[in-house]
Amino acid sequence: MAERLRLDKLLCYLGAADTRSAARDAVRAGRAWVNGVAERDPGRVLDPTQTQVSLDGEPLAYRRWRHVMLHKPAGVITAARDPRAATVMDLLPALYAACGCLPAGRLDKDTEGLLLLTNDGALTHRVLSPRTGITKCYLAEVNGPLDTDDVLAFAQGITLTDFTALPATLTILESQPDGARALCKVQEGKYHQVKRMFGARGRAVTYLKRLSIGPLALDNALEPGAYRELTPEEVAALYTATGLPIPKE
Ligand code: URA
Repeated sequence: MAERLRLDKLLCYLGAADTRSAARDAVRAGRAWVNGVAERDPGRVLDPTQTQVSLDGEPLAYRRWRHVMLHKPAGVITAARDPRAATVMDLLPALYAACGCLPAGRLDKDTEGLLLLTNDGALTHRVLSPRTGITKCYLAEVNGPLDTDDVLAFAQGITLTDFTALPATLTILESQPDGARALCKVQEGKYHQVKRMFGARGRAVTYLKRLSIGPLALDNALEPGAYRELTPEEVAALYTATGLPIPKE
């Protein structure tokens, strides 16, 4: 069944207002129209799929599903909100919070790179579940050399204090006595997982960046802190990889 929304919430959802109170003011000022008729009740409940809403004469297009890729910068926490620290939601326009977008998984505060945000909880669940087998690829820099023993240990599944990681792929890009760079592909997303796996091999991670989630690669054109919506092709690839039907807008 289609969700039903109050007009003030719908205006936020459609990106026409940053806050519910701004939306209420706009409606009470007579700036909102519903199916061609002025509507001054912000509490009017509507089925957005069956309703044409306009603000200041501009028709607003409803979309049920929103999927965003964010190039998460270091120094920002992955949370919906936090009273003290900047969160990834602060980097997006308010409409994404209004329509229920949340991060699909977490990156540590000092980790950079691809963060998917979506308002489809089923997609988030599938992306995160190890059973779906969606591989996350990270670029890691560590404080010492890496060798084929490390590659083998990752492939066998590294035993940590509380669990044994699923087999992971380690590809060494460069290794020097004082540091190494490698690509690491994991199927899980447990707390500090990549750092702990390298830690179990006696290496500390000095830099970590997520490059991809399954078929979804971080867009190189996105600077740290920048975001964009997924293209229809990216949406289709992600839903297909997770075994979910591609939603019709
Ligand atoms: N693994 C980590 O250790 N940290 C991250 O942010 C992501 C994966």
